[in-house]
Amino acid sequence: MTDTTIAPNAETVKQDTTSIWGADVASGVAQFLQPLVVNLTAMSVDGKQAHWHVRGQNFIGLHELLDVYVDHVREWADMVAERTVALGLPVDGRVQTVASSTTTPKLTEGFTSTSDTVAHVVSQIDATLEILHKGITDLDDIDLSSQDVLIEIERGLVKDRWMLFAHIAQA
Ligand SMILES: [Fe+2]
Repeated sequence: MTDTTIAPNAETVKQDTTSIWGADVASGVAQFLQPLVVNLTAMSVDGKQAHWHVRGQNFIGLHELLDVYVDHVREWADMVAERTVALGLPVDGRVQTVASSTTTPKLTEGFTSTSDTVAHVVSQIDATLEILHKGITDLDDIDLSSQDVLIEIERGLVKDRWMLFAHIAQA
């Protein structure tokens, strides 16, 4: 038990929340967060690739929307990475790790029609929604705050999916 009569200092204060929540909880959470850091980082890079190479009908709307989407996925990657680090565990967002472990389908090279661009980006969103849905379900028994992070991202990502897909959807 902590002695509340003595003010904590750099030597006595707990270093991280692993010692509060337990290493099992932290590592249990990390198994869901690490794949999300990877996928969201891959999506931010590929989102720019799509932004640069999209051509055709509805060009300007899609070109600009892809930048908004990139801002979102970058912010979410940061949110997930910082949740992991806050729990006392490292994340691996190195470019080699992202390239070798992302589950996002590869984009086609070069200039791409607006309809194919939307299909490619939406397929990357769907790959990440799979991870999110499994994580939201499984974190229910492990850590509700991390589950809340995933729920927030899922809500935003589904909205971005709708915004993108509306460009090619049949009315
Ligand atoms: Fe740009």
